[in-house]
Order: sequence, then C-alpha cells, then structure tokens
Amino acid sequence: MSHAEDHAGTRRDFLYYATAGTGAVVAGAAVWPLVNQMNASADVKALASIYVDISGVEPGTQLTVKWRGKPVFIRRRTPDEIEAGRAVDLTTLIDQSAENANKPGADASDENRTLDEAGEWLVMMGVCTHLGCVPLGDAGEFGGWFCPCHGSHYDTAGRIRKGPAPRNLDIPVAQFTDESTILLG
Ligand code: FES
Repeated sequence: MSHAEDHAGTRRDFLYYATAGTGAVVAGAAVWPLVNQMNASADVKALASIYVDISGVEPGTQLTVKWRGKPVFIRRRTPDEIEAGRAVDLTTLIDQSAENANKPGADASDENRTLDEAGEWLVMMGVCTHLGCVPLGDAGEFGGWFCPCHGSHYDTAGRIRKGPAPRNLDIPVAQFTDESTILLG
C-alpha cells in the first residue's frame, strides 16, 4: 500500500497511525545515533531480511514480528483451521489471487497461501488491505482475522471474505531455512 493510499483513510485511521507512530518515534530517537554511524547500505541490508525463530509457536497461536516497519503474522494453524481453509469453494472468494509473493499468479487456494505443503504455517503481512489497520487474530465471522477499523473479515487462510478490504492479506517473500527458522525477505 502506498503512502498516498494510507492518507486516504478516515480520521479514525489517522488517529490510529498517530498513536502507533508515537512509540516508534520514541524508540527511533534512542537508536538513531547508532544507526546514523552505520553506512546506509548496511542499514538497509539489515532491514531487508530477518530470521525468525518459530520453535515456540504452538498450534492455534501466532507470532507477530515487525519487518520493514510493518507487522507480519506467523500463524501455526490447527487441523481445524487447515480443514476450514481447504474446504472453501474458490469461486466464492472476493479475491481469486493467492497474493503470495512466493507464488506469483497462483490462485487463492489454501495450498497456495501457506508456506509448507501440510498447510500448518501461514505467514502474512498484518496489514488490512483496505486502509492499513492491523487485523485482530482469532476473530471475525470466518474464524481467521477481523479488522475492526471498518469491518473486514478474513478466513483461516487470511483471505478476504466480507467487508471493504479488496484483497487477501499479502504474503511476503519467505522461506524455511531449517525446521524452526523462517527467513523473511
Ligand atoms: S482498514 Fe478498513 S477494514 Fe481494515
């Protein structure tokens, strides 16, 4: 989402961003002198990719990490969540694309949304595709995520099912580097 689109939000969105931004500015002020001494390319490189230890993530829970300034949800799905995601008739979906950077052009089947073939691991940007709020997990009418800003419901595969959001939650470039580590970017 571009900044221009961000700015198209309502006053409520603006307040949300303003509140979220305050914490970031405080943290930024503390670390900036150090970052400033690094050369720019090293700084950018450090932000481009991160390794995430997922060994502590239990089925039915998710880890939220900050990457490139945005939240990323890493969810370990339960068998019920996987089954629900796979049972969906694709023709009923609002967005028919997987929106998966790892599978360009793929359809929005549950299998095309997850990082592993068994469908246990779902890695997505935690950014509502409507105006950029952070959706809540284990919520909404489809057992996945719910964005309270304007009422968008996402299913257990992070696909938009109801509400104003136009697209499924975006899936970033990601891969397993070993069984307990995911590399983002
Ligand atoms: S930002 Fe509007 S529904 Fe999520």
